[in-house]
Amino acid sequence: MAKQFQSVQGFNDILYPEVGKFQHIESVSRQYFGLFNFKEVKTPVLEQAGLFVRSIGNGTDIVEKEMYIFEDKGGEILSLRPEGTAPAVRAYLEHNIDRQDAIQKWFYIGPMFRHERPQKGRFRQFHQAGVEVFGIDDPFADIEVILLADKIVSSLAVKGVTVRLNSIGCPACRPVYLRELKSYLNGITDRLCEDCKRRIDTNPMRVLDCKKEGCMAATAGAPKTTDYLCSVCSAHFSTLRSGLDALRQGYTIDTRLVRGLDYYSRTVFEFTAEDAGAQNAVLAGGRYDYLVELLGGAHTPAIGFAMGIERIAALIDMPAVHGPDIFFIPITEEARVRAIGLADRLRRADKTCEIGYGEKTIKSMMRRADRLNAAMVIIIGKDELRDGSITLKRLSDGLQEKVDDATLLEAVRRMSQ
Ligand code: HAM
Repeated sequence: MAKQFQSVQGFNDILYPEVGKFQHIESVSRQYFGLFNFKEVKTPVLEQAGLFVRSIGNGTDIVEKEMYIFEDKGGEILSLRPEGTAPAVRAYLEHNIDRQDAIQKWFYIGPMFRHERPQKGRFRQFHQAGVEVFGIDDPFADIEVILLADKIVSSLAVKGVTVRLNSIGCPACRPVYLRELKSYLNGITDRLCEDCKRRIDTNPMRVLDCKKEGCMAATAGAPKTTDYLCSVCSAHFSTLRSGLDALRQGYTIDTRLVRGLDYYSRTVFEFTAEDAGAQNAVLAGGRYDYLVELLGGAHTPAIGFAMGIERIAALIDMPAVHGPDIFFIPITEEARVRAIGLADRLRRADKTCEIGYGEKTIKSMMRRADRLNAAMVIIIGKDELRDGSITLKRLSDGLQEKVDDATLLEAVRRMSQ
């Protein structure tokens, strides 16, 4: 019968050994999240769609085109989460965390969903590892968040990464900037793509982010956010930069960096990898000092980032894969019972064991042990059952030893060296 089902376009299976990269990225991320004292939060993959519309903004690509939005059987309009920040803020407010301790440092690792056109580095289900810091205004929180991101990306040995940094101001100074930008853009409409023409009214800063060559050239002389910062935003940005300098954290100021979500204010940053092709942002984030308020809470400054796990995975080498320590070759049913008992003992001593059941002959079991890259095999045949012994064989050099129950673990340890 023909295969009837395939995975949904843009939704990928992550199989062994590729999954090893994901595990590695997650474990390095968790390690640093822990070292920086962030606590894990797991929010649902489904939220009320309005949460994202309100947070990310109506004129953004995510809200306009990319949400997996549907009405459920109860008539609620829901969306698969396209990102993790809005759900974190929702949870922060829903559980009154701000009333216990407004300062919170959270991290999350999980799948996100965007109905984008699938291409290299861009999927409809992808995974992010991210952090959110609530309740701190101090630019040193921005510095630590950027240092944390850099620690993770460097520990994963992602090469050719540039940290791009900008400040996009606050509700006090941004309107002035937007007015200037709009009037500049209105003067060059004939040189802009159709999307950008539309964005002049809906989301003018996004025009600066357009990757089309014509638009990039046309906006080369556009007003820069950093020239319009109010004194408070300007001081914040300057402390951030001098702190990064003092700590020797490399970065480049990119005044075209505006980000694709509306909730940002002041600091925005992106880590881009030179070998990643068009979708080269491997990690991105920034401040969102007004989002908690927008969703009904007290004024709570906040900052965070999210790293794209698939994009990092595409840029790192496969971590070494290890076969099992021991592959058991039991010949009879009685031998299998014995193998399970011995495997239990070895597993308690942290040795990975697999028992051969599927194959019929010693030869085919040996082939499977080889294929799995097992370090040793234990053969339990008729002789071994009769005299209670165990034959242990190291596959790298064929060294073989006959041991008994009492000396097995010691022999395994000796042969592992
Ligand atoms: P974002 O820039 O939309 O920001 O996504 C962050 C990262 O997720 C991107 O830099 C990229 O590596 C990865 N990513 C995004 N879309 C896709 C996709 N379709 N396929 C593969 N990878 C993708 C946010 O999501 C913000 N919530 C980040 C943040 C946290 N800001 C503050 N706190």
